[in-house]
Amino acid sequence: MKKAWILLALTLILTGCGAGETETEQAPPPTILLQPTRTPPPTATSIVTPTVEADVNGGRSGDPLAMEVGELFSTSGSCAVCHTNLTDDTGADVSIDTSWRATMMANAARDPYWQASVRSEVMDLPELSEAIQDKCSTCHMPMAHTTAASMGSTGVMFGEDGFLNQDSDLYSLAMDGVSCSVCHQIREEGLGTEATFSGGFNIDTELRSPDRVIFGPFTTEDSLASIMQSSSGYRPIQGLQLSRSALCASCHTLYTSYVDASGQIAGEFPEQVPFFEWYYSSYRSTQTCQDCHMPEADGGAKISSMSKILRSPFAVHSFVGGNAYMLGVLDEYGNELVVTASSENFDAAIERTLTQLQNNSATVEFEDVRLSGTRIIADVVVRNLAGHKFPTGYPSRRAWLHFTILDGSGQTVFESGGFNEDGSIVGNDNDADPAQWEQHYLAIVEPNQVQVYETILRDTEGDITTALLHAAGYRKDNRLLPDGFEKKSPYEDIAVRGGAMEDDDFQGGGDSLQYAVDIGSAAGPLTVNVELLYQTISYRWSENLRDKDADEIQRFLRYIDTVPNLPVVIATTSVEVGK
Ligand code: HEC
Ligand code: HEC
Ligand code: HEC
Ligand code: HEC
Ligand code: HEC
Repeated sequence: MKKAWILLALTLILTGCGAGETETEQAPPPTILLQPTRTPPPTATSIVTPTVEADVNGGRSGDPLAMEVGELFSTSGSCAVCHTNLTDDTGADVSIDTSWRATMMANAARDPYWQASVRSEVMDLPELSEAIQDKCSTCHMPMAHTTAASMGSTGVMFGEDGFLNQDSDLYSLAMDGVSCSVCHQIREEGLGTEATFSGGFNIDTELRSPDRVIFGPFTTEDSLASIMQSSSGYRPIQGLQLSRSALCASCHTLYTSYVDASGQIAGEFPEQVPFFEWYYSSYRSTQTCQDCHMPEADGGAKISSMSKILRSPFAVHSFVGGNAYMLGVLDEYGNELVVTASSENFDAAIERTLTQLQNNSATVEFEDVRLSGTRIIADVVVRNLAGHKFPTGYPSRRAWLHFTILDGSGQTVFESGGFNEDGSIVGNDNDADPAQWEQHYLAIVEPNQVQVYETILRDTEGDITTALLHAAGYRKDNRLLPDGFEKKSPYEDIAVRGGAMEDDDFQGGGDSLQYAVDIGSAAGPLTVNVELLYQTISYRWSENLRDKDADEIQRFLRYIDTVPNLPVVIATTSVEVGK
């Protein structure tokens, strides 16, 4: 079924547009109505000559993107040929392939943590193996999964027929991850409603090349559209759904089935629902996912190397998130993991991620610090700046406060929330014992108490777990709420869980708490410091995989043992207190 084309000859045979009838009239309005978002005005300005120097200094130089044409999808290399060499007004390179190839979405299938985690779920529940592989490949290998589904098969990842086998017909499509022709073929139908959540995005499976359609934010001149169509088999047409959060919601709203103690499927669990967190925040009326995650190029830019006009806003495909750690692993083990991005691409992606984490994610401040007898009383305020909970997304993410007091000679007098080389947090009950967890605090008085903003998952018996298929609910969810989020929100799946519910100053926008610490006879002046730390793979989430003997799992553990899983400092502040 697959034919490999090399897209070299650009035949300029202009045919009538046979693709018009595919945009079916939109049926019922989505049950969730969204605000209009970034509007795509086709502004025309004169063209500046692009000067691009894409050279690599040290590290892996990267591999070409796959060039494969399937019946329903093409891999990124077949699109990149014409969507590269693009610059903005400042001369910065905004080439779509360059921005995209080092993102977590481009590497969603190669991601060694994801592969290990699917293997682990399959080992826990071998009788559900097929269903698990099918589910997990839906969003991480969307081109292979959708293609298999269109032929009536399920998505198999492991074994001889699996997508991960290099001999599989669907290997290239699978490994290209969340690629160009996935997002750009998603139809308007059902977006923002249950029908499209959990990877239920709607992609046409009937049309064949050259009548397939690629949606984009702009209107395109006929002659240019025909160039793309005759060479790629897809005709670009305007589809405003591309600019809506509801598009992202199709994969970023995930419900997973869970089993009870007898191994029977017993219900569905909201594993990650950033779209709802955003929807019930004030950002719904001000910023879309795209606004924050696809930064706007400076001024105008051509959208293809053949374009005649500059467009604005031009959305840069950098999809900046929080997972600097995994980007580092993908770079470090790039050859083994067959990544296409170069070290330079990864360095740029890590840099963008750190910048977002440190400038736009959260802040920490002292409201008041005073000495009262032999006690330091410090009031700390943490604010969430993101468009959803912080942390958001996959439940292994956590943020916590590291609070220290040093005496006049620089000796530590008090510390809460320090961390070890292996990525565990000192004094965090969950890291010490998988059956325990750290409560949400209103005040901290002991070094073994740590404020950790996180989710703790429980199974149907109430025991805590990091296995997705056993996760039936949240024991704790005190992740910082976004601005405008009503804590008493009626929506079950994004509710605050545990002690934070009773904490009056834990509200939309942030949290405050007090440190009240006896420092005895410590000599001044005292330095009181607090930092907000963030980690994408909490200690328990990797540690709980240790007892499993399977290639994908042992490989992931080797990576995590060699690339230090240390937290990123999101924000820090310090004051001196005389004594
Ligand atoms: C995760 C989904 C996603 C992937 C993957 C993706 N795009 Fe996009 N693309 C978008 C969205 C969303 C927009 C429009 C953003 C807006 O209007 O705010 C866009 C816009 C564009 C545009 C218009 C110019 C611009 O950047 O604004 C082009 C051209 C384009 N994409 C091509 C590509 C190509 C080529 C690839 C693969 C290398 C790709 N896209 C991968 C989501 C995606
Ligand atoms: C032969 C060159 C060529 C190839 C190959 C190609 N494109 Fe295009 N693409 C173009 C041109 C030309 C335009 C129109 C540019 C303009 O209007 O300025 C375009 C426009 C687009 C747009 C914007 C559509 C809109 O209405 O906003 C998107 C998105 C896009 N292409 C995605 C893709 C994807 C995905 C692939 C791979 C399946 C691909 N392109 C392959 C040349 C190409
Ligand atoms: C076809 C499914 C799909 C669609 C559509 C999709 N995503 Fe993703 N996205 C994923 C998957 C899968 C991952 C996780 C990859 C991994 O970590 O292995 C991800 C990860 C991310 C990340 C995390 C990056 C990081 O560093 O941690 C961001 C940010 C993101 N997506 C933004 C978006 C935005 C914005 C849109 C809409 C324009 C979107 N996504 C649409 C599947 C999708
Ligand atoms: C106001 C800006 C803003 C908006 C709007 C926004 N985000 Fe984010 N997002 C951020 C910031 C900042 C981070 C990094 C901190 C964090 O992880 O929460 C982030 C992180 C993420 C991550 C990565 C988390 C990780 O584990 O690496 C995902 C996935 C994500 N956002 C998806 C979305 C989706 C989907 C939407 C739309 C429904 C959205 N975001 C809307 C600012 C925003
Ligand atoms: C509906 C789409 C969807 C499905 C289905 C899905 N995922 Fe994901 N997955 C995502 C997104 C989106 C992210 C990124 C969230 C973030 O960065 O915080 C992600 C991230 C992950 C991560 C974290 C990767 C990292 O590098 O930190 C793991 C592990 C993971 N998924 C495992 C699974 C497993 C196991 C399954 C099957 C049970 C599965 N996923 C099914 C969308 C999906």
